Amino acid sequence: MEYLYPRSYHEYTNACKYIPGGVESSTLLGSPGEYPIYIERGNGQYVWDIDGNKYLDFLCGFGSVIIGHDVHEIDQTVLAQIKNGQLFGLSSSIQNTLAELIISSVPCAQLVRFMTNTSEACLAAVQTAKMYTGRRKILSSGYHGWLLPQKHSTGTSGLLKYEYTDVIDFSYNSIKIEALFKKYKDEIACVFIEPDPRLHDRNLLIKIKKLCVENDSILIFDEAKTGFRISLGGAQEYYSVFPDIVVLGKAMSNGYPIACIAGNKEYMQAINSIWTAGTYHYEVSSILASIKTIKLLKNKNTQNSLDEVGHEWFDRMSLWINKTKYPAEMKGIHRMPYLKFKNGYGTVFYHELLQRGFLLHVDRWYYTVAHTSENILELINAMKDSMTEELKLDAYEKVYTKLLFEKYFSFTFFPRFEIIYSMLHIYDEEGTLKHKASKELYPYFTQLDGKNNLDTIFCNIKLDSKYNRRNIMILLLSTIQDMVKENHLIMLNYPYVDGT
Ligand SMILES: Cc1ncc(COP(=O)(O)O)c(C=O)c1O
Repeated sequence: MEYLYPRSYHEYTNACKYIPGGVESSTLLGSPGEYPIYIERGNGQYVWDIDGNKYLDFLCGFGSVIIGHDVHEIDQTVLAQIKNGQLFGLSSSIQNTLAELIISSVPCAQLVRFMTNTSEACLAAVQTAKMYTGRRKILSSGYHGWLLPQKHSTGTSGLLKYEYTDVIDFSYNSIKIEALFKKYKDEIACVFIEPDPRLHDRNLLIKIKKLCVENDSILIFDEAKTGFRISLGGAQEYYSVFPDIVVLGKAMSNGYPIACIAGNKEYMQAINSIWTAGTYHYEVSSILASIKTIKLLKNKNTQNSLDEVGHEWFDRMSLWINKTKYPAEMKGIHRMPYLKFKNGYGTVFYHELLQRGFLLHVDRWYYTVAHTSENILELINAMKDSMTEELKLDAYEKVYTKLLFEKYFSFTFFPRFEIIYSMLHIYDEEGTLKHKASKELYPYFTQLDGKNNLDTIFCNIKLDSKYNRRNIMILLLSTIQDMVKENHLIMLNYPYVDGT
């Protein structure tokens, strides 16, 4: 088998020997046969993988990198400090500087407590609300990291059913939240949401705020993605709807590991009644990186540059999408543009862009101060290119999607088509798993049934995998149809259930 990214494949195979699943985060867990690309370095708006491919980066460290990769001003500050030590376990005065910067930038922030990552800060925020109100129930929508008992699109956090009972998801549904407030009136400690423009509008935020005030519940915004990105003061500033407590992370430090919980003095004091402690909460590199990042973000030119590129992206792409009949719609706002595909199309699209040198997250797109309007044009041209081809595949795609990707959550950084057939699990009529790994599938097929020429099919797939997706789909489809005819059950083994 030829791999499109052989060194990444090799590294991943090695990683699987030492690391469960070969990866450090569930976000990179793929199906059998998939492998993530490995990145070697970044500079400005670009990253390079270990196979020497260069990408225009719109993943941006899952939204953390907002100034750009390898920013001299930030890295120099950190390097200078590292010579004097990195962790002392006691406070240093720079944390006051950072707290002041956050308080002067984020409207609801009157007190700030720093932590190492946003999952931690999310947990601290709800514990604080529970402590302050003496109540247990949390009404939640969106993703709030992996420590909070919640169900989210990527599966459960590995917690037991009873652990979820106090966290009720209302999926940004205005009627549902009203009903929940009626049902649990005096039990609701807080409402915890992402004020994310991709998912709802300002009216919902206003309504939630009103419900919280009327019921003495605390409103918490998880601004991990939106904070410092949608505007300096985050979504709360953009929408002029202010929470009692906010969780911040990601863009506040341009990729260095730090997060915080901030908010109204009265509520924030309650954090002293719960146990929050972290060996690395005093770690100085990230505090310094964050100070520098926020100072850069406070500069008017930086904000103008983010606006200019965002508008170029959102407006141009909206115009183009509206003109064509491509099965996708623009969502979000200019600082957080995002293309929502109809079921299945996104999978192919992101893979096409990856091969053209564009790295994008499957359901949210980010950019940095280093990105230019020309970069946006490059992306749009590459999209046009891949989309035109895509439209030609329309008929095949639909059936193919239904068969294979109906419940498939695609991450953009998995080389896709070379592994499609690796995802098939084959069961015999008794339900015994006959085959599940990728590489042996081809011999298994030959052995399974010489009649339907499956060896030819897989030879073709292999030969054409890079260039001719149309063929792959036709062949794959006929393979699947043959297998269905032969009463072999085809099953997708993938932990994610969201679609793009
Ligand atoms: C809205 C939101 N909250 C919390 C988190 C968890 O942050 P971390 O991965 O830094 O723990 C994320 C991460 O993507 C997020 O998007």
